[in-house]
Amino acid sequence: MANVFTSTDNPQHKTILFIISGGVSAYRVLDLIRTFKKDGVYCPAILTKGAQEFITPLSVSALSGAPVYTDLFSLKDEQEMGHIRLSREADLIVIVPASADMIARTAHGMADDLASAVLLAADKPVICCPAMNPQMWTNAATQENIATLSRRGIDIIQPDHGEVACGETGQGRLPSVEALYKTINKSLNLTQHKPLSGYKALVTAGPTYEKIDPVRFIGNRSSGKQGYAIAAALAQYGADVTLVSGPTAIPCPQNVKRVDLESATDMLSAVEQNLPCDIAVFTAAVCDWRVSDVSEKKLKKRDDHTPPHITFSENPDILKTIATHKTKRPRLVIGFAAETDNIQEHAQEKLIRKGCDMLIANQVGHDKCTFGNDHNDVYFLTPDTDSENWGYKPKHEIADMLVCKVIEHLEKHEAINHTGANITKLEA
Ligand code: CTP
Repeated sequence: MANVFTSTDNPQHKTILFIISGGVSAYRVLDLIRTFKKDGVYCPAILTKGAQEFITPLSVSALSGAPVYTDLFSLKDEQEMGHIRLSREADLIVIVPASADMIARTAHGMADDLASAVLLAADKPVICCPAMNPQMWTNAATQENIATLSRRGIDIIQPDHGEVACGETGQGRLPSVEALYKTINKSLNLTQHKPLSGYKALVTAGPTYEKIDPVRFIGNRSSGKQGYAIAAALAQYGADVTLVSGPTAIPCPQNVKRVDLESATDMLSAVEQNLPCDIAVFTAAVCDWRVSDVSEKKLKKRDDHTPPHITFSENPDILKTIATHKTKRPRLVIGFAAETDNIQEHAQEKLIRKGCDMLIANQVGHDKCTFGNDHNDVYFLTPDTDSENWGYKPKHEIADMLVCKVIEHLEKHEAINHTGANITKLEA
């Protein structure tokens, strides 16, 4: 049987299978499909029953010029395609908008309609774009279902904050068509081109906790979001990524191996155990000191009301230890610097002192850059170029920009070519 997804205006033969579920924002998918069609991407679609309350199969197929499917047991569709082939012949599957019901059904492996059956049989990357009432979004059931999908490797594009169709305000709006296009397009390109495949990367992230006694510790406010975003981006571009993480509340990114720990000394051992690697990124907010005499028992308040005497020892500088490693220094070492003032001077000094090839300096302590924020305000530095101000951006965008710098560096120094093959490694 001919591949019915092959279209003459699709020179790169890229196909996105759109799964459209019920929601007022379903009509905005028409614009999204129009944009991808302009790029020559073939865009077949599945409409759930709910989606058909908002848009018609005819409007979608008139726009996309591609088939639109609705029925699991349509004899015609089954003969021509079959739900298994629907996923096999796509490069990428996008559920947009993903209703709470669609998300729950996917998380529970339902297969009683075409959309859920295709997702259960899918062997391709899936992106899920939730859109719903803010209460439905924040409901523990939806959040657990989303965490399940994320754990299984489905990429989630978080809904925006704002007013939703029912008049309530909160998180639940489908992001703009431009934002959706940007993220989906990147994933689509990466289905065929993974410039970092063959490279091993290591990322440290999150805070470290230094024990005082069995119930208390010293830590810091790092959320780990920037490091997790970098690990996710490196993996998306094909690297084999190990994330060495202090305590965080974030799920492990797709295709990333995570090593969990608490203290700086454990973080250093985990990093050393994962050498050699090609790319090492040190985003962790490592505690500079640990408690010298950790108490085996809980410290009790004293009758004379004097506080306990705690003595500290300096923790190893993990970044510096690895950047100056005699035998196992990674080819590319990237540090971070959290600064409240004189950001560029402090960062430049840290870059040289710690022996990094690249460094990202982030401003901390001003209103927009509190710990745990989804945005960061950064400068990018190397030893031999002027510093670049990347400005105030979402952490995932900063992660992408950094990975582009990594790829540029490897292309320049390591004979990586534009097809993504690492020539040195292939010839070896
Ligand atoms: N770092 C590390 N091990 C440490 C301290 C820091 O690996 N014990 C790394 C961080 O992950 C980051 C870089 O070093 O990549 C700079 O961390 P930062 O906290 O900004 O600087 P410090 O070295 O702690 O220096 P200072 O406290 O003087 O700013």
